[in-house]
Amino acid sequence: MKLTSFFILFSIVINSLITQSFSSVIVTTNYGDVIGRSGIINGKQVSFFLGLPYAIPPLGKYRFQAPQPIPQSSGRIRRYDARLYKPSCIQPTPIPWTNPTTAQANIHEDCLYLNVFTPSLNKTDKLPVFVWIDGTSSTEGSGSRWMATTLASQANVVVVTFNYRLGVFGFLTTAELKSHGRQIPANIALLDQQVALRWVQDNIDHFGGNPRAVTVGGDGLGATAAQLHTLIPSSYNYIHNLILQSGNVRMVHTIESNIHKARSIFRLFVAEVGCLGQNHTVTQQVNCLQRLSTRKLFQGQKVLTQQYWRFFKYVVDGVLIRDHPRILLDQGNFKKVNLIVGYNLNDSAKLIQQLPHQNQGIHRDIFLLLIDTLFDEFNHAIRRAIIHEYTNWQNVSSPIFNLRQADKLITDSLYAAPTEYIANIYSRDSSTSTFVYLYSYRGSNPDPYYPSQLGVSNTMEIPYVFGYPVAKPNYYATAYTMTDRQVSLEVMSLWGNFIHHG
Ligand SMILES: *[C@@H]1O[C@H](CO)[C@@H](O)[C@H](O)[C@H]1NC(C)=O
Ligand SMILES: *[C@@H]1O[C@H](CO)[C@@H](O)[C@H](O)[C@H]1NC(C)=O
Ligand SMILES: *[C@@H]1O[C@H](CO)[C@@H](O)[C@H](O)[C@H]1NC(C)=O
Ligand SMILES: *[C@@H]1O[C@H](CO)[C@@H](O)[C@H](O)[C@H]1NC(C)=O
Repeated sequence: MKLTSFFILFSIVINSLITQSFSSVIVTTNYGDVIGRSGIINGKQVSFFLGLPYAIPPLGKYRFQAPQPIPQSSGRIRRYDARLYKPSCIQPTPIPWTNPTTAQANIHEDCLYLNVFTPSLNKTDKLPVFVWIDGTSSTEGSGSRWMATTLASQANVVVVTFNYRLGVFGFLTTAELKSHGRQIPANIALLDQQVALRWVQDNIDHFGGNPRAVTVGGDGLGATAAQLHTLIPSSYNYIHNLILQSGNVRMVHTIESNIHKARSIFRLFVAEVGCLGQNHTVTQQVNCLQRLSTRKLFQGQKVLTQQYWRFFKYVVDGVLIRDHPRILLDQGNFKKVNLIVGYNLNDSAKLIQQLPHQNQGIHRDIFLLLIDTLFDEFNHAIRRAIIHEYTNWQNVSSPIFNLRQADKLITDSLYAAPTEYIANIYSRDSSTSTFVYLYSYRGSNPDPYYPSQLGVSNTMEIPYVFGYPVAKPNYYATAYTMTDRQVSLEVMSLWGNFIHHG
């Protein structure tokens, strides 16, 4: 199928971007014609197509099942309107950083959609592609959280963002030991992501993109997921460069290595929502879950996640994730790719803020509890060693000292050490390049999303990567300065060069 041409139909002003007027464009794809929008940002052309379906809606018998790609033989649609976002997957609302008055802030189980932002619709351009996996945690994330028009236009790359199933819908598994007979497969969220990455391979050329030059990236658990795909052989062909912002597979509490734990979470969940009669087989339990309302399932998820902060994780299932990532990395059993990996100066601040404070510090008991909670995957001896290493022995009980040590511990264990470890492993391969960063810029204006007392806090680099200080959606409230704009242009040029050249 050839890209025929695109027509400028009529001019309409859209209200999601300041000062730009965007007109409608049409692109011909394998599935039929798609209507998007096109305009100029900071002197550069960009078009976008929102809410394109990449899998059959995961409803009814498709709920809790692996995503089914949409067959191209299913009949071409006459004309698909891709000018508005589709709802995000089920998660707490309001979704931070989004426009509360549009579909991007709505949630629905029918959510397997993606968005394409492109500077060119000419098939011969073959621009490199950046796929962003959004996800601050396993229960939150949306392809419509960050508007990628500015990044696409300024860095001259095609950007793809997408939704994937979250929480119980994307992470629950029956986890039977015989991997092929699992009623609910493990890592549905990863399977969704994989189908989205495959869609990029099959379709991105119609949007001016090159399927052989795909950078996958994300922040936090989105970065963890991006890196996981470099450990999954069936994803290898979909990914050529990797960007890990404040997240990776070595962060504690992101990956469950024990499939039995995933099974016990299934049982807890089934009991919580009332699907665990004594007579029930796993099949009956799954049938029961498939018949419940979205609300009931989400309610059950809320109850469980209130008990334990990271209930839903990626799991070493022996199928998709073959072994613990640490082992796969040490064995060199992963796809060698160019890499950017890094974190923010005060990534730890948000977690520290959640600890019970006293007199500007934290009580020694809280410090010890923090270690037990963060490192519960490790045995007692290891936790003792961590306590020994991170105690300030000058004054063990000083709240100030305990706070500083907790900050150091969180920064080291969640961000600094994994970053260094991963950079070392990937840089062993001489055919690829590895870049490490520490993001330490905070604008001078107050930022409603990022309180100043948290410093250069977690996720603070994301709006700079997406170029919001240069041009942003008008619902986004931060007032940026000229310096912010310069920094954002610099960040986009670094990311852009990497996406272009590795
Ligand atoms: C696409 O780009 C090529 C090379 O730059 C050019 O020759 C061709 O006319 C362009 N096609 C369209 C439809 O603009
Ligand atoms: C299964 O258990 C439910 C209650 O949990 C009960 O109402 C039902 O009669 C039981 N079915 C059989 C076949 O025992
Ligand atoms: C240790 O810190 C506590 C609490 O700040 C303080 O009361 C105590 O005097 C300090 N002890 C020493 C030896 O500095
Ligand atoms: C941010 O991190 C720097 C370097 O560790 C530290 O000096 C500073 O106090 C931190 N700021 C906040 C607000 O935590």
